[in-house]
Amino acid sequence: MDALTLLKERTSTLPRFMAEPGPSDADLADMFEAATRVPDHGMVRPWRFVVLRGDDRAKMGEVFVEALKARQPDAAEDAVEAERGRALRTPVVVAVLARTKAHPKVPHVEQIVSAGQAALALQLAAQAKGFGSVMLTGDNAYDPHVKAFFGLKEEDAIVAFLYLGTPADKVPAKKRPEADKFVEAFGSHGA
Ligand SMILES: Cc1cc2nc3c(=O)[nH]c(=O)nc-3n(C[C@H](O)[C@H](O)[C@H](O)COP(=O)(O)O)c2cc1C
Repeated sequence: MDALTLLKERTSTLPRFMAEPGPSDADLADMFEAATRVPDHGMVRPWRFVVLRGDDRAKMGEVFVEALKARQPDAAEDAVEAERGRALRTPVVVAVLARTKAHPKVPHVEQIVSAGQAALALQLAAQAKGFGSVMLTGDNAYDPHVKAFFGLKEEDAIVAFLYLGTPADKVPAKKRPEADKFVEAFGSHGA
């Protein structure tokens, strides 16, 4: 598939439409090469990638359970079980992190943007290899307990959990935006 077609056909696949196999370590190495080629003002290199596969996904689930119980001590048992199984829904999950630093020329937001682009590059590289993926955050990405687990400071970010697997044969199609509706003429916003 040529690059423009890949970009125009980028899609997310929800965990319930993905199954084994997930990307191998060699696949992930290619994907990380793509992800670390994103624009990066000042060469801050804010992106970090943590691969969860096998038992690590269950351990992640226990961290999510602890975080939920800290947020909601009276959480219902089905909510607790949902957190416990959350990372087990696909063969591989990559936590995409932004480890930011104070920089005289590179504002914090630019470092987060760069990490967001790294997440997109991972998704596109996965798709180029035939894998499905979806970026999900939810409460866990913003939870101080989960952030501390990844060694993140308050100003750092869990940009997304990228769930990865092999897409089912039939995944429901989505309505896509009409690009020209999002293009505004220069000078058209004046008072
Ligand atoms: C940073 C980020 C976090 C997201 N978190 C969630 C989420 O927690 N739950 C969700 O349903 N979709 C979330 N999404 C949206 C999905 O990743 C996906 O874009 C959406 O399902 C639309 O599918 P598409 O990418 O094929 O257009 C998130 C998107 C981004 C960029």
